[in-house]
Amino acid sequence: MSFYTPGKVICNGDTFREMITKEELQSRIAELGDELSHDFEGKKPIFIGVLNGAFIFLADLMRYVTIPCEVDFLKLSSYGDAKVSSGEVTEKKKIDADIEGRHVILVEDIVDTGLSINYLLNLMNLHHPASVSVVTLLHKSQATRHDVKIDYIGFKIPTKFVLGYGLDFAQEGRNLAQVYVLDENSDEKD
Ligand code: IMP
Ligand code: MG
Repeated sequence: MSFYTPGKVICNGDTFREMITKEELQSRIAELGDELSHDFEGKKPIFIGVLNGAFIFLADLMRYVTIPCEVDFLKLSSYGDAKVSSGEVTEKKKIDADIEGRHVILVEDIVDTGLSINYLLNLMNLHHPASVSVVTLLHKSQATRHDVKIDYIGFKIPTKFVLGYGLDFAQEGRNLAQVYVLDENSDEKD
């Protein structure tokens, strides 16, 4: 059972509380857009969104970028319906663009253990891009075990399961305009 109210969401029987408001998200993403526009001036970067989670963040971020740029998408295996990483990653959809000699900006919704982004960096480098940068909306820095360089971070968050603004729990909750965090103390279930 799932239902949404402002400030509190029940998703598949678990309770989530609002953690990052719509306004906080938009103002931080606008800052990231400014930074990227400045850093990639004259370079026509290609944004590569990691599906499904990054689609909302990428759509908002690109509208705050004021220089010419392109976009493409790839898809990795997901968490499935669990709240913890399976520890395995596979490519489910490849990019169509030729990224040789291009400035690539990988766009993630969240970096947790760092496994996915580590895999993606290796994958991108096989195609000889001019540069690869990483932007993630959320970073669970204490959970990141793989040694990856993340160039742009929206928000550092605790190692807790989050939902909304593209992030799902068993495919639900992506449409929420705010980020919610699992309330581990709540025993409300249905
Ligand atoms: P990593 O490979 O462990 O860094 O996990 C990265 C991927 O796991 C992200 O792109 C998300 O799709 C998913 N993920 C990690 N943490 C969460 C979470 O708290 N909620 C929903 N999805 C998550
Ligand atoms: Mg993802």
